[in-house]
Amino acid sequence: MEYTLPQLKEKFYELFGEGENGKMYFAPGRVNLIGEHTDYNGGHVFPCALTIGTYGVIRKRADKLLKFYSLNFPQDGMVTVSLDHLVPEEADGWTNYPKGVVWAFEKKGYMIENGADILIYGDIPPGSGLSSSASLEVLTGFMLMDTMGLNISMTELALLGQYSENHFNGMNCGIMDQFASAMGKKNCAIFLDTNTLQYEYSPIDLKDARIIITNSKVKHSLVSSAYNDRRRECEFALEQLQTVTDIQTLGDLTIQEFEQYKDAITDDVRRKRAKHAVYENYRTIQAVEALKENNIESFGSMMNEAHISMRDDYEASCLETDILAELAWDIPGVLGSRITGGGFGGCTVSIVKNEAVEEFKKLVYEGYLERTGNKAEFYVVDIGDGARCLEEEREI
Ligand code: GLA
Repeated sequence: MEYTLPQLKEKFYELFGEGENGKMYFAPGRVNLIGEHTDYNGGHVFPCALTIGTYGVIRKRADKLLKFYSLNFPQDGMVTVSLDHLVPEEADGWTNYPKGVVWAFEKKGYMIENGADILIYGDIPPGSGLSSSASLEVLTGFMLMDTMGLNISMTELALLGQYSENHFNGMNCGIMDQFASAMGKKNCAIFLDTNTLQYEYSPIDLKDARIIITNSKVKHSLVSSAYNDRRRECEFALEQLQTVTDIQTLGDLTIQEFEQYKDAITDDVRRKRAKHAVYENYRTIQAVEALKENNIESFGSMMNEAHISMRDDYEASCLETDILAELAWDIPGVLGSRITGGGFGGCTVSIVKNEAVEEFKKLVYEGYLERTGNKAEFYVVDIGDGARCLEEEREI
């Protein structure tokens, strides 16, 4: 991180002027260990919050203006919008995310009477698919709730973030990213049933192995439209399945039931999409079981299968992330490796034995450079807590 917490506070007063105290908050990014594209299909996911994320300093204003400044986008300068005019505007850039959250609060009946000064700084690598936008949404929600004296549960905050992303920013994402950012817990992954929002924390104790994120450094364009297409394909498949069996979501189907009814889906592409959703959901449940039994090898091999399903059935992988995963699979000491997040670029997540970490980084870096000309980046990550106010944690 480029700034210390006291420096962030200083920057806040420098930009917005002295006066009432600003309060500092944090919401993390996430990495999903397994369960991809299952969250809008009524299935299970298994993400964990990271220790990287988005920081914010906020102070209530007496008028109705929201003033935003991001240390990541200094070229955008100070962006000022009125609470009476919250609409997505391309020219407003990154501020469409926090604006969307304020808009969502009002839509859901949490009236915001006062504006605010808001400073943002994030240390999630841009375009990495580690949920910088979800962390910004959850951060904004948490800051607003606290500053405006509202009482909202963390689950509801996650839902407000998702609602804003779906209806203000036009990305039809599921609940996973916002839920992980809001509900994360140190050294645990969250086993979440996205159908009921019931969840369980699962301690991640990999003994002699580590989680490593590898950034392909590519993000293919039209990610959100490709994502929305996948979602629509699943919805069509569900509608056709509903003509032969009584289900609410693809996540309601067992693998046997899917195989029995799949011919109701008349189109090959949609059948493959639905197959991924059903098999991936089952795999996620099995993988969490394996982890409970301390069978990390089996967890890892399910991660590999999950990648293959993303590549072949969901077609949400891409050449670069396929190369990263395939290089990893060949290295002794790598227990599992797969693309993580929405796809079409971004990162892979791998579980690597401690003694193989250096070799893993070297071989993947060199192999990837040779085959794509791109320089992969590696993050050996820690699993952190969800969104919170930082004032009580340390002296600032
Ligand atoms: C993105 C979305 C999530 C989820 C993943 C794929 O990260 O925001 O809701 O659908 O893709 O698992």
